[in-house]
Amino acid sequence: MARVSYTRMADMTAADLALVNADGDEDAKELPDRLMKAVADLERFQGPLQVTRLEHSLQSATRALRAGKDDEYVAAALLHDIGDALAPHSHGEMVAAVLRPFVSERICWIVEKHGLFQAYYYAHLMGEDRNARDKYAGHPWYDDCVEFCEHFDQNCFDPAYDSLPLESFRPLIEAVFRQPRPAGRPAG
Ligand SMILES: [Fe+2]
Ligand SMILES: [Fe+2]
Repeated sequence: MARVSYTRMADMTAADLALVNADGDEDAKELPDRLMKAVADLERFQGPLQVTRLEHSLQSATRALRAGKDDEYVAAALLHDIGDALAPHSHGEMVAAVLRPFVSERICWIVEKHGLFQAYYYAHLMGEDRNARDKYAGHPWYDDCVEFCEHFDQNCFDPAYDSLPLESFRPLIEAVFRQPRPAGRPAG
């Protein structure tokens, strides 16, 4: 492979930049596969739960699909916890950053805030405020995040649920992450 001429970016030439950009374009084509691998890697995480985090994610995506949600929503459901390993205290924000160029701002917001909204189901067990999410009461997407947590997250720890296999979501992931949405995309 052709190499750039610089060792410090301060010395980069236009030819170097063309090389780097071309490689970046090629690399971006592999994003769907890397995302699928990130979901598959959740198999390693289970702890005391009745299902692995992979199964949790498959349940989330399968339930979203069966509820008639669109491709972006199902993709977000499948990916919503891939940040758990690297950002255990801010995984929603991390995954929202992955999604942002490809899905609507509404879906990004749901994923970004889902950790806080999900705390409704357990914060009171730690003596904390389960309604902390209400600081977003009145936000246009508040109810959407409540819906995600209620129907596609908190209930997705069931070993008896017949989730679809991970590979069945590959075409959908490839479609959503093929290229960023155009600028000026609609918010919803
Ligand atoms: Fe989560
Ligand atoms: Fe989750």
